[in-house]
Amino acid sequence: MPPPPGTKPQPPTGRSAPVKAPVTAPAKARVTAPAKARAKAPAKSAKAGGTPRRAKRPPAKHAELAAAPMPRAEGGVIAIAGEARGPAECRVHIGDSRALLRSVPECVRGEVDLIFADPPFNWKRDYDRWKAEHPGGTRDEYDTWNDRMPDGEYLDFTRRWLDGCIAALRPNGSLWVNIPDDWAAEIVLHLKGDRDADGHPRRRMHMVNWCIWHYRFGQNTLGRFINSKVHVLYFCKDASRRTWNGDAVLEPSDRATTYADKRTFNKKEGASGLRLPMDVWYGKYWGRIQGNNEERRAGHDNQIPEVYLERVIRACSNEGDLVLDPFLGSGTTCTVARELRRRSIGFEFSSANAHSAAQRIGAGPVRVRFDRPTQHISAIFSPRGSGKRAARPPADAE
Ligand SMILES: C[S@@+](CC[C@H](N)C(=O)[O-])C[C@H]1O[C@@H](n2cnc3c(N)ncnc32)[C@H](O)[C@@H]1O
Repeated sequence: MPPPPGTKPQPPTGRSAPVKAPVTAPAKARVTAPAKARAKAPAKSAKAGGTPRRAKRPPAKHAELAAAPMPRAEGGVIAIAGEARGPAECRVHIGDSRALLRSVPECVRGEVDLIFADPPFNWKRDYDRWKAEHPGGTRDEYDTWNDRMPDGEYLDFTRRWLDGCIAALRPNGSLWVNIPDDWAAEIVLHLKGDRDADGHPRRRMHMVNWCIWHYRFGQNTLGRFINSKVHVLYFCKDASRRTWNGDAVLEPSDRATTYADKRTFNKKEGASGLRLPMDVWYGKYWGRIQGNNEERRAGHDNQIPEVYLERVIRACSNEGDLVLDPFLGSGTTCTVARELRRRSIGFEFSSANAHSAAQRIGAGPVRVRFDRPTQHISAIFSPRGSGKRAARPPADAE
């Protein structure tokens, strides 16, 4: 996640750690004929001020990637075959998701089962480091997404891709949006609150959860509290038909891990000692940096942890389902979807990012495994009592 505007830049703690992600092209990835020309990128705004953080010098592996031949972002498609054991094919389309949502056949036909969207936040980021790393280069100046729009333009952009996602979803589908404080309220209102003259919701979307992804290591600030969260909005199209696999994402309850409370092992319903995760997400592998260096891809400082996508994909889709990420970035969604035997499609404006993502998808995730769901423990207190007796939980338990 990039830092919000107006925050004090921090030293790049943790960013220079070795990146173990593969850099060789996956054997099964191939670039096919370009699709239709992408929508023209919006002109840069003179009004949007602020100084973007300077791109850091790339680690060697990213430089190697950037040196590879790059097609222009004219709408190529990179296809990655599925695993032999499952129907996990993946396609990465290069272009503007607003146009692609209206032209890619599965979206036009409304066949997408799950959408995870982590859009640009309009935080004046350089989403594609290519230009910074090739000062004399000749690549199309619009290859990097314009992350400096006036607010009204950004909101219009947001509403368009949101509406495109709704149209692409099947009736039992879900839409997840990862979004900071700046825009969460506007998105919720657009999906849920906008009503016609008769008071009926215009968009038929239902909010299931408003989760929070909490991470440590937020950008340091002096005059306000430090940002350490992103909103994780979970909407579905039809509350009575949505795909939901709660059993696939259970975790040990605090009663089990902290209080040795036998009530948690005697539940009439649910698995013994387990419960669904709470709606604030954090933990060992949930950090942007801390505990997660092994996953980090050079050149992508917006990367989301694999376990975050594991939770979303396991809970809200089935094997063989189609998962879409309209802002693919480093490729986390499709990488995890493919491991979990879901078909997937990613849209990415920057061809450098798209190619980097395709490499990662072909190589597979670092942490997530299909047949070994990640074990999470979200308890923050150490075990109390001897563990032999059933401790009576104090008032602050669960
Ligand atoms: C916040 S990042 C996504 C990070 C991703 N979730 C990950 O784990 O790596 C947003 C990405 O969307 C891309 N992007 C921005 N605007 C776009 C658009 N209109 N269409 C497609 N991709 C876009 C940016 O280039 C950037 O790579």
